[in-house]
Order: sequence, then C-alpha cells, then structure tokens
Amino acid sequence: MKYFNLASVQASRVAQGCMRIGGMTASQIDTLIKTDLECGINFFDHADIYGGGVCEEKFGAFLAENPAYRDQMLIQTKCGIKPGSYDFSKDYIRSCVEKSLRRLNVDYVDFLLLHRPDTLCEPEEVAEVFDQLYHEGKVRHFGVSNHNPMQIALLNKYLGEDNPVLINQLQFSLTNTTMIDSGLNVNMENGAAVNRDDSVLDYCRLHDITIQPWSPFQYGFFEGCFIDNPKFPKLNEVLRSVAARYNVTPTGMAIAWILRHPAKMQPIIGSVNIDRIRQIAAASDVTITHDEWYELYRSTGKTLP
Ligand SMILES: NC(=O)c1ccc[n+]([C@@H]2O[C@H](COP(=O)([O-])OP(=O)(O)OC[C@H]3O[C@@H](n4cnc5c(N)ncnc54)[C@H](OP(=O)(O)O)[C@@H]3O)[C@@H](O)[C@H]2O)c1
Repeated sequence: MKYFNLASVQASRVAQGCMRIGGMTASQIDTLIKTDLECGINFFDHADIYGGGVCEEKFGAFLAENPAYRDQMLIQTKCGIKPGSYDFSKDYIRSCVEKSLRRLNVDYVDFLLLHRPDTLCEPEEVAEVFDQLYHEGKVRHFGVSNHNPMQIALLNKYLGEDNPVLINQLQFSLTNTTMIDSGLNVNMENGAAVNRDDSVLDYCRLHDITIQPWSPFQYGFFEGCFIDNPKFPKLNEVLRSVAARYNVTPTGMAIAWILRHPAKMQPIIGSVNIDRIRQIAAASDVTITHDEWYELYRSTGKTLP
C-alpha cells in the first residue's frame, strides 16, 4: 500500500468505506477492520446516515473492544443530509458531529465532510461551527462531498486558511468518468463535452484538494458492480488482459486505473469481502502505463475526438 500526505497525516491511497457494514456481525467487522489494517488501509469513511447510524455504532463497538486500534486509523465522517433536505446550519452540524463521536466511540474525527450541497447554506455559519469544532478538538480537518468548484470557493472564502476544504468526495469509476470526459472533449458538439461539474477535477488539482472517488465499482447510481458483468464485455476483457500483465485481478486493476491518474485520488472502496480487499491492496502498488490507462478508458465505450 502506498501513502500520501493529506494535511498533516499519512493516509493510505485506498480508503475503506463503511456504508455497507450495517448488517455485519461484530466478528465480521473485527475481521474486516483488522484485514484493512494488515493490508495497509488506514483510512475509514463513514457518514451519520449510513445504516441510520448503525454503521458508525458497529464501528464504535469495535473500538470499544479494541481501543488501541484508534491511533492506527484515520476516521472520517460526513453530515448535512437529513430526510427530505440538506442542512448546513451550525446547530445541525454540531448536533451531527456530537452524535457521530458518541456512536463511533471516539473523542475526535480526523476529517469531517459536508455530505451534499445545501443551497440554503450560510457559509459564515459553517465557518463558525468548523472553527469551534476544531478548537474543541472534535474535528481535525474538513472537506466536502459532491460539491462543485464555486461552492467550494464560496465556503473557502469564509473558512479562510484555518480550516480550508481539503477533500471533495465525488462519484468516479471506470464507468462514471464525467469528470474526465468533458476535459477530453473541450469545445466539441458531442454529449461528452457537456461539463457537468464546472471542471471540478482541474479545480481540485489546482487547489490541492484530494478527490475521493466513491462507488469505484458501481455503474449508474448503485445499479451494480461492473466487474464480470455481461453488460460490460469489452471493459471486462481489457481489465482481465491488463490485470494479467501485472499478476493482479480485474477488481484490483479497476482501482489501479484510478490511482494512475495524476490527480492522486483516494478511492473509497465499499467491498467488505476480505479477499477482494486483499486483491485491491495488492493492485494499489501497481503503476499501469499511460497507454494502458487510455486502453481501459476506451474499453468502456468512450471515444476520443
Ligand atoms: N459521498 C457520497 O455521496 C457517497 C455515496 C456513496 C458511497 N460513498 C462512500 O463510498 C464507499 C463505497 O461505495 P460503494 O459501496 O457504493 O462502492 P463500491 O466499492 O463501488 O461497491 C461495493 C459493492 O460492490 C460489491 N461488489 C461485487 N463485486 C465486486 C467486485 N468484484 N469488486 C468490488 N466490489 C464488488 C461489493 O460486495 P462485497 O462486499 O461482497 O465485495 C459491495 O457491495 C461507501 O462505503 C461510502 O463510504 C459516498
């Protein structure tokens, strides 16, 4: 596993997402977390809403049994989504963080992200509550999720240099490449030229914001996994072929493809299958060539102008 500097910490290039741990037993979660750490994955992504809080609770139960593991981990959680709306008011953010800390059984989280943009957001309020949470030692660093460049710039105007946005979590995978397509099709009349995110990839690179691709194996919006899926014959054929050159699996190669991009993205994997996690960790040390990267991109049916 490779690591990179994320603010003041060394984070693994691959992170474990905890959205799908709600139905697991304590013993399965024990095995999952210990496997992640053995594989070098030290970054765990949560949200207050995953499993209605159960995912954080079960992770917290592991830490209650194994308190020494806390120092080996970077824990991130997200807030701001509530039933039927998004809410970035200072009272709501504070109450979410307090509840997440209790459920996770920790004194602080390493990263707190605002989950989805709240159009009624008052950035001065966000700045105020971030500043308090930072000085109370409850949150070490901040970021956002599913935000576009202007939304980040607006927040940063108020967050200032003390607690700037360091992370933006966005959907990205071999089958969800809108962040890249428009940059490859500038000024073209085709559909791929449509800029759906205000050039968020370039903006994040320009401002040293780490992109965390979520759902790196899902096509559509949680429609299913593309690996070994008959809907994606060419992609799977090329994945198998490139993976074989490096003695890794297609599952691992799908992550090696994300890691090869110079934006230094940190994919959040959602698998809780320890064999797959090991395959991904093994492939995370592989650096594919420039041409292999494009071969995989084209195998999804994308064309270059
Ligand atoms: N910010 C946001 O808005 C947002 C939205 C969604 C998710 N997230 C974060 O992103 C994380 C990952 O999301 P996700 O779970 O949708 O991502 P994913 O890694 O794309 O999907 C994982 C799911 O695919 C299944 N799968 C089947 N075959 C697989 C294979 N060959 N390789 C890998 N997975 C395979 C996994 O099952 P097995 O467990 O059996 O392997 C698991 O159910 C979440 O845990 C969460 O932390 C953030």
